[in-house]
Amino acid sequence: MKTLILTGSPRKKGHTAELTAYLADRLEGEVEILSLDNRKDITPCRDCRYCFTHKSCSIQDPMQEIYHKLDEADQIVFAAPVYFYNIPGSMKAVLDRLQVYWAAVVRGDRPSENRKGGIILVGGAPESVHQFSGAVQTFQYMLGDLGAKCEGVVTMGGSDRTGLCDRPDVQKKLDELASRLNG
Ligand SMILES: Cc1cc2nc3c(=O)[nH]c(=O)nc-3n(C[C@H](O)[C@H](O)[C@H](O)COP(=O)(O)O)c2cc1C
Repeated sequence: MKTLILTGSPRKKGHTAELTAYLADRLEGEVEILSLDNRKDITPCRDCRYCFTHKSCSIQDPMQEIYHKLDEADQIVFAAPVYFYNIPGSMKAVLDRLQVYWAAVVRGDRPSENRKGGIILVGGAPESVHQFSGAVQTFQYMLGDLGAKCEGVVTMGGSDRTGLCDRPDVQKKLDELASRLNG
């Protein structure tokens, strides 16, 4: 069992990293955590539409290695802080390259949801109704394109003032996500 966790925070010891490590510690099998922050070596999607007719991306850069990791993973987890109600731009620029998976709709070879996925999001502001909606929608859509069924969304608001150690409710949700991914 291989789980690939893609993270998007520039803060290497921040809250996203803390929640990610907590989940990773509870997952069975092989776990790889890969940061997509500030990947200047990866070109943003050009909408060249090569993937409308080919099951691959025309841009030959280190994203090709990430496609390989995504294809090999049994489970995929996205983890990020919310920036203005969505995921950080630097992570989004990389994840826009997942267009090659979305384009299965055009090619007519969309996969079934034959693997599992999960979502972790952190927000600095006190918890509110739509705090995570944009980011959840983005990640859920991407998991669907990757053929991964979302097994749980764990959010933690209020991170400007508290951390995971003060949030047994968030720890419980991470435990539950781990158990669904392990099950
Ligand atoms: C550019 C920027 C935009 C942000 N926008 C939001 C927001 O819309 N909602 C929110 O709750 N927090 C927002 N925050 C706060 C971050 O989500 C918060 O600092 C979070 O803990 C960062 O996660 P990290 O410690 O993993 O980096 C923003 C922070 C930055 C730097």
